[in-house]
Amino acid sequence: MQKAITDKERILQKVGYIHHLSQSEMNQVRPNAVRTLSTPPDGIKCEKCGNTGYIEGVHPEGYEIMEPCPLCYERRKIARRLRHSGVSPQDYDRYTLASFDGGRSEMSARMKALAEKYLHEHVTNGHGFGVFGSSGMGKTHICIAICQSLTRKYDEPHYYFSYRAEMPELIKSMRSFTAEYGKQIEKWKTCKNLYIDDLFKFSGKVQNGRLVNIDQDDLKVMFDIINARYLNHATTFFSSEYTVGDISKVDGAIGSRIFEMVEPYGLKVEGENERLKGA
Ligand SMILES: Nc1ncnc2c1ncn2[C@@H]1O[C@H](COP(=O)(O)OP(=O)(O)OP(=O)(O)O)[C@@H](O)[C@H]1O
Ligand SMILES: [Mg+2]
Ligand SMILES: [Zn+2]
Repeated sequence: MQKAITDKERILQKVGYIHHLSQSEMNQVRPNAVRTLSTPPDGIKCEKCGNTGYIEGVHPEGYEIMEPCPLCYERRKIARRLRHSGVSPQDYDRYTLASFDGGRSEMSARMKALAEKYLHEHVTNGHGFGVFGSSGMGKTHICIAICQSLTRKYDEPHYYFSYRAEMPELIKSMRSFTAEYGKQIEKWKTCKNLYIDDLFKFSGKVQNGRLVNIDQDDLKVMFDIINARYLNHATTFFSSEYTVGDISKVDGAIGSRIFEMVEPYGLKVEGENERLKGA
């Protein structure tokens, strides 16, 4: 029952209710109104607005309105975006640009420098960023660090697409030829700043260290998403153990689009697995 309304709807209901009260009624209910939101769902406490994110203001035409709280509204918006991105709070804590050590190897220095350059030059609906190559090099780490900086610094939302977690369901509905498939991939086609992590994981066939084939169903679903994003200039981030060159040899249509989407912020990484260091 409680789950049926979102935090935002709950706050708007409250705001609407408060809006219709007279000043004396307001003085009576205010202590309760504040108390009922005394545990803010996003953990951000603010005395100015009683943790609602809104304060009373006056419209130029003289009537009372609720306005975003100048002390906390922006922070609440960022917290909401991070909560809905698909990345866990623990991973946001772990994978930051500050915690990415550029001194571990020449490769890590290049990754960090390119990430910083990207963040400096990022434009809305502009090019994305991609890291391709060996396991354990910090590809996921650096991409999540970029994504959270986009939200914290540029005020843009981002979304996380875990290839392994999302694909089985999408492939199943694509094979069933129902309208469900279109609905399911709509978000991935259109959302701002999508990070596709582990592209083609477990769907590629490798022979003599070379990618020689990718499962047809995986190619079909990925083409639908990537082509739509390519045409819409929807910023996309990629990480994959396969290089863009390898992917292009198997499927030129997808490979060339990925290349264009991340250029000039694409990087091929090679080196020792950071997970195994010291093991
Ligand atoms: N330069 C670095 N500084 C700090 N931590 C690093 C660095 N490189 C890797 N790590 C850490 O090593 C672990 C593996 O990194 P990550 O998961 O990002 O690798 P990956 O390239 O995505 O690997 P895979 O291809 O297997 O997904 C993580 O805990 C990450 O934080
Ligand atoms: Mg990874
Ligand atoms: Zn506030």
